[in-house]
Amino acid sequence: MDIVQNPTDIQQCAGERRRSGQTIGLVPTMGALHQGHLSLVAAARAACDFVITTIFVNPKQFGPGEDFEDYPRTMESDLDLCRAAGSDLVFTPAVCDMYVPGSSTTVEVAGITEILEGQSRPTHFDGVTTLVAKLFNMTLPDRAYFGQKDYQQQMIIRRMVSDLNWHVEIINCPTVREPDGLAMSSRNRYLSPVERDQALILNRVLEQADQLAAAGQMSPQEIQTGMAETLRNAEGIEPDYAVVVESESLQPMEKNFGCAVALLAARVGRTRLIDNRILTFAE
Ligand code: PAJ
Repeated sequence: MDIVQNPTDIQQCAGERRRSGQTIGLVPTMGALHQGHLSLVAAARAACDFVITTIFVNPKQFGPGEDFEDYPRTMESDLDLCRAAGSDLVFTPAVCDMYVPGSSTTVEVAGITEILEGQSRPTHFDGVTTLVAKLFNMTLPDRAYFGQKDYQQQMIIRRMVSDLNWHVEIINCPTVREPDGLAMSSRNRYLSPVERDQALILNRVLEQADQLAAAGQMSPQEIQTGMAETLRNAEGIEPDYAVVVESESLQPMEKNFGCAVALLAARVGRTRLIDNRILTFAE
């Protein structure tokens, strides 16, 4: 497995692969890798000739007072995990090479970035789209792999790819969970044992929403109200949002049937966690 740090080198390497007819699969990450990330690498390995994993804690997507400094950095074990999962190359750029002094371009998707996560983290998605755009140009992927765990992020990247006419297929990979249902996240390691236990309510609320939607007795709005109430009453949980919205636009459901997504964010102690589940409402 190659390890490349320089943007010019990765661009050259990716160009050579493309010219020789190989398909490139890209898995962008911020490291502190867990089975969720590795499921993306495995999916890329199964479908692409050349798999590039990127590890970069992107300062531009952290707001003031967020956890950029504290974000777990576990490069040595990340590289071992990438190797074992079948990555051909890991790209680990330095901040100063990704954002050279004087660079002044931001890739900004309007609308869908301003709600939900965007309300609590106003500059977050501009940081994500600018970085992912740069990674696409450096690694020239045929396919790029993203987790359903970050549902809104994936929708925004799909919008960006479509709006900018990129020839990259965005592949959705299902959320990988701990055996007790907690969605895997690099931030779970911030949780104390008590908080880790309290955090289980997030998945339980989503499971319940799923069952209520399938039963067909309650409207999306009623389910949303119930989710918010359960979270408000849960010990140790400070909910940010809990919504049931249309699965593409992330806007309120206009009808009481079809495909929706339940999305939530909550603080457990000092740790902010997100999770989601696709819901199907019977007609
Ligand atoms: P990061 O949080 O490291 O996640 C990298 C990728 O792994 C994302 O596509 C995310 O959705 C996916 N992922 C995380 N937890 C998962 C889980 N439990 N199951 C399945 N997939 C999971 O998301 C980012 O980094 C950054 O914003 C990035 C896109 C790399 C841009 O900096």
